[in-house]
Amino acid sequence: MNEAQNDDNNRRVVVSRHGGPEVLTVIRVDPPEPDVGEVRVKVKAAGVSAFDLIYRRWRRLPGSPRVPFALGEDVAGTVDKLGRGVSSLEPGQEVTGGTWAQGVGGGYADYVCLPAKELVPVPVGLDPGEVVSVVVNYLTAHLHLNRIGGVRSGERVLVHGAAGGVGTALLQLGKLAGLEMYGTASRHNHELVSALGATPIDYRTEDFVERIHSLTGDGVDVVIDPVGGARHLWRSYRVLGKGGRLVWLGSAATNEKGLVVGPLSLLITFLLKLVPDGKQVPTCPTLGTFAKAHNEWYRETLTELLALLAAGRIKPVVAERIPLAEAARAHKILERSGHAGKVVLVTGTGPLSPP
Ligand SMILES: NC(=O)c1ccc[n+]([C@@H]2O[C@H](COP(=O)([O-])OP(=O)(O)OC[C@H]3O[C@@H](n4cnc5c(N)ncnc54)[C@H](OP(=O)(O)O)[C@@H]3O)[C@@H](O)[C@H]2O)c1
Repeated sequence: MNEAQNDDNNRRVVVSRHGGPEVLTVIRVDPPEPDVGEVRVKVKAAGVSAFDLIYRRWRRLPGSPRVPFALGEDVAGTVDKLGRGVSSLEPGQEVTGGTWAQGVGGGYADYVCLPAKELVPVPVGLDPGEVVSVVVNYLTAHLHLNRIGGVRSGERVLVHGAAGGVGTALLQLGKLAGLEMYGTASRHNHELVSALGATPIDYRTEDFVERIHSLTGDGVDVVIDPVGGARHLWRSYRVLGKGGRLVWLGSAATNEKGLVVGPLSLLITFLLKLVPDGKQVPTCPTLGTFAKAHNEWYRETLTELLALLAAGRIKPVVAERIPLAEAARAHKILERSGHAGKVVLVTGTGPLSPP
């Protein structure tokens, strides 16, 4: 179902009740009015993430709002209206940013109001689909690879879920950092993982612990693990060499194994911290928590990443651009898995189409 864009209408895609992708419903409401310090953004592209699937599917998660509510962690678009007290941006300016100030999201809409401090100007001429793919995925990759993982040029890194939205961002930033990279992915994604500079490992048919040991001899310096689960994290820990760091940032395994993956991952990382063998398991805040507490870091890093995009030094992998009203189809793609990169919702046509 594709709907014509109508500036008088604000479509919001809401979770009408918890359940499968079919619970996503398009409603029409008046565009929201920006509060003091806020900006109304006319959304051109909104990111779809694994986080959205969890909040759509399960009730009683920390911070979960009452239905109906809109998902969408990141948006790219145009400044439409300024709230009182905002002087840092101008109507018509292209901006992007995360929606964490609103709780679980709100980006699946034609218009969204966000605090001005969460929005960063976008260099002229960029594709909103690529811009929005930078926000959550590349900020997460930067936070966990550079800041928490503390990688240095020449180090060896294993990236799990290497063909995913976060995984492809990790490989592109890892290449810029001069890392020797290995990446787990399904076989059909291996060409992409190789093209992004990593040695691919098929996690479905190969034992990644054995493979890493045979490829490297003494293991890797850092493992970035967005898959999670007690067994998976324990195996990730085993491929670390002396002084290695295990960075756990997500639970993609929830898709197959359910919500239990999160608590089990927390428990095993807590226990692994206690092992006195010189390996480290740093505590990893989520991007939303970290960005809320470190607005300056968020703005500076996102601005740097957008400059890298404008200079052609990073190129987000956009799996698909899907009309806003077909958000349910976007969720089905993520649930089916096997896609590569970021799935993006778009509100219009024309300039948003891939070049
Ligand atoms: N901490 C944070 O702030 C933060 C921020 C963003 C995302 N995350 C989390 O990070 C995770 C990944 O997010 P995403 O947006 O990259 O998701 P995504 O685009 O759906 O990618 C998930 C990837 O996981 C791979 N995968 C699934 N099971 C695997 C396994 N057993 N071994 C290796 N790879 C496996 C899939 O690979 P194939 O398709 O190749 O099979 C897929 O590419 C999610 O849990 C998300 O919630 C956390």
